[in-house]
Amino acid sequence: MAEIGVIGAGSWGIALSWLLTNNGHKVTVWSVIESEIEMLKTSHEHKDKLPGVKLQDSMQFTTDLESTCKDKDLLVFAVPSIFTRSTAKQMKDFVKEGQIITSVAKGVEENSLMRLSEIIKEEIPQSRVTVLCGPSHAEEVGKGLPTTCVAGADRKSDAEFVQNLFASDVFRVYTSPDMLGMELGAALKNVVALAAGMADGMGFGDNTKAALITRGMAEITRLGTAMGGAAETFAGLTGIGDLIVTCASVHSRNRKAGYLMGQGKSADEAMAEVKMVVEGVYSAKAALQLAKKYNVEMPIVEQVNDILFNGKTPKEALPELMMRDKKSEHSALPWKE
Ligand SMILES: NC(=O)c1ccc[n+]([C@@H]2O[C@H](COP(=O)([O-])OP(=O)(O)OC[C@H]3O[C@@H](n4cnc5c(N)ncnc54)[C@H](O)[C@@H]3O)[C@@H](O)[C@H]2O)c1
Repeated sequence: MAEIGVIGAGSWGIALSWLLTNNGHKVTVWSVIESEIEMLKTSHEHKDKLPGVKLQDSMQFTTDLESTCKDKDLLVFAVPSIFTRSTAKQMKDFVKEGQIITSVAKGVEENSLMRLSEIIKEEIPQSRVTVLCGPSHAEEVGKGLPTTCVAGADRKSDAEFVQNLFASDVFRVYTSPDMLGMELGAALKNVVALAAGMADGMGFGDNTKAALITRGMAEITRLGTAMGGAAETFAGLTGIGDLIVTCASVHSRNRKAGYLMGQGKSADEAMAEVKMVVEGVYSAKAALQLAKKYNVEMPIVEQVNDILFNGKTPKEALPELMMRDKKSEHSALPWKE
């Protein structure tokens, strides 16, 4: 049995806490929001974020960050990406040398263009940072539906440590040394999910969705490999796997926000209606900045940015994607003649 601190009591933090407790570990969940902790203490259920998932009696809930971090075998970093840096700053003094942190959020920081594991390492240099991601909606993990994820780390032993803590008969965990590829795929799929949602909102069909998923993955792979990620990672669970689930699922808030925009709502109206942090909006800006920095073509990401920030409508964006210069699907493949 391990002692685990989970930082963040949103849908994902709660679903993973439930999973880890089922695996026999002692879990303490922290949130900055006092009313959220009160609700969790009294009802042992997160009625807003993960209704219907009864949390085990042994689970502890607190707003005290120091006791959440102290003497824990693992810290699971599960706040939405926009709060990663501010939360890591608050935690810094409570993390001991060599303590393992697993980042489970998805995003790239605007302007610094840093991955979340890099932000945590910068703010808490004494920690050993790992990541866990893959096609895994909280709503399904909380029901014990079969799910697969990947634990990434620089050291094999750290990845295997995380794998062993999370793995169960309903949650299969692989390992990977490619944190960069994993985190990039996880963050940028949200941008493509906005586009896939827009296509659904405009009434397009499965052909369009398949095109966006496949060409979106081509963009992410182009950028990710230019940055040093492995091509295999983008063809795996944290790449195409996560992209498929996000573009297809009713649970995806990014797809839903895109859907509303496809139906004619503005980006602000769509986000207000979704009522949750739509991380693809932040990652879209960062993705465009990365594309420029690494001189990589990302036409879908460009159009999503224009829709989000420059007043273009999804209807205006579509012909720009369809009528781009004609080209080969895989430009590196040689012709026989
Ligand atoms: N929900 C999922 O299915 C899922 C699955 C895999 C990964 N993720 C990733 O995990 C991360 C968290 O997602 P989520 O669905 O739990 O989000 P969420 O919107 O449910 O999280 C909200 C929670 O964040 C915390 N919070 C709010 N304001 C804060 C602040 N100022 N500082 C620190 N914490 C604050 C609170 O506990 C709040 O309940 C995201 O990056 C998401 O992409 C989510």
